Amino acid sequence: MSEPITVAVNTSSRSYDVVVGENLLDGLGERVRQAVRATTAFVVTDSNVGPLYLDRALSSLATAGLSTASVTLPAGEQHKTLASYGTILDAMAHAGLTRDDVVVALGGGVIGDMAGFAAATYMRGIEVVQVPTTLLSMVDSSVGGKTAIDVTAGKNLVGAFLQPSLVVADISCLSTLTPYVFADGMGEVVKHAVLADPDLFVTLGARPLTQEADPSYLAEVVADNVRIKRDVVATDERERGLRQTLNLGHTIGHAIEAASGYTQGHGHCVAAGLCCVARATEALGWSEQGIASRIERCCAAQGLPTDSDLPHEDILHQAAFDKKRHGDSVNLVVPVRLGLSEVRRTSLDEFAYIVDLGCGTAAQE
Ligand code: GLY
Repeated sequence: MSEPITVAVNTSSRSYDVVVGENLLDGLGERVRQAVRATTAFVVTDSNVGPLYLDRALSSLATAGLSTASVTLPAGEQHKTLASYGTILDAMAHAGLTRDDVVVALGGGVIGDMAGFAAATYMRGIEVVQVPTTLLSMVDSSVGGKTAIDVTAGKNLVGAFLQPSLVVADISCLSTLTPYVFADGMGEVVKHAVLADPDLFVTLGARPLTQEADPSYLAEVVADNVRIKRDVVATDERERGLRQTLNLGHTIGHAIEAASGYTQGHGHCVAAGLCCVARATEALGWSEQGIASRIERCCAAQGLPTDSDLPHEDILHQAAFDKKRHGDSVNLVVPVRLGLSEVRRTSLDEFAYIVDLGCGTAAQE
């Protein structure tokens, strides 16, 4: 078994480590104890992850001398609600949690976002440790401090920035994911590769990443992705500029996700959105020639979609409600070439033209 990889993240609000490796759950308690000065660790998990990993996490925390309590929520994006948020806060209060304690988010992106938001707001903010168990949450949502819940008007419309005090990514947890959920994380991995790692992009195209990959290779890829995100977040924690590039593929991707009623995974929708935007911006001469077909091939190799057959008016309708809209325009991330993307302010009319150019236009196999 290879040694864990530690990626140090420095932001203006907090510095912390992201530890990536095999079988890290059993040493979780010791790492938490070293990272935070807490008496009680309050674990938030869900009905998929809890039965697999909650006992191990609690026993490791207890062995390290922490008092423990936990709450288990029903799994799924449809439960990332005000009601679940209230359930977490009530359970924290009943456990007697104080500002000196810590929330431990054990699960995928939904749990990380909700537990993070509960930690950001309970008693005006207590510390959170992220323990991501899906590929998507390891490479993206557990790092960088975005926390949120959904409301009926839209996904992630209510949230706060709270950098975690520690992230422990136990890649052994990836073995229990379904292939669909694993591939969902690959949507964000391909996005990161397009943004900042042309070598990884080429490698993924030639050798798609699967759960069966050598664990030390998996850990390296996760750590590389964390470094890519870290470098962006360290420069622009609050998404005023550079961090917006992490939304590559998301303007159209979010619209596809919302229009599907959240039945399609986030990473699958990001992959489709990335291919749509690349086809359109290549046709407009904003991106280098050939980039769209390269991105399509890379996504397809990971089992990800490369297009959406949604009616364009549905995509436009959803994009108009996206929280990243600015008045009558959207900030579209353009993949100029592998390793370089830029943000372009695009009017809703221009965006409609881009959707016409890029969506439903993939060459048929
Ligand atoms: N998932 C994009 C970000 O954290 O900014």
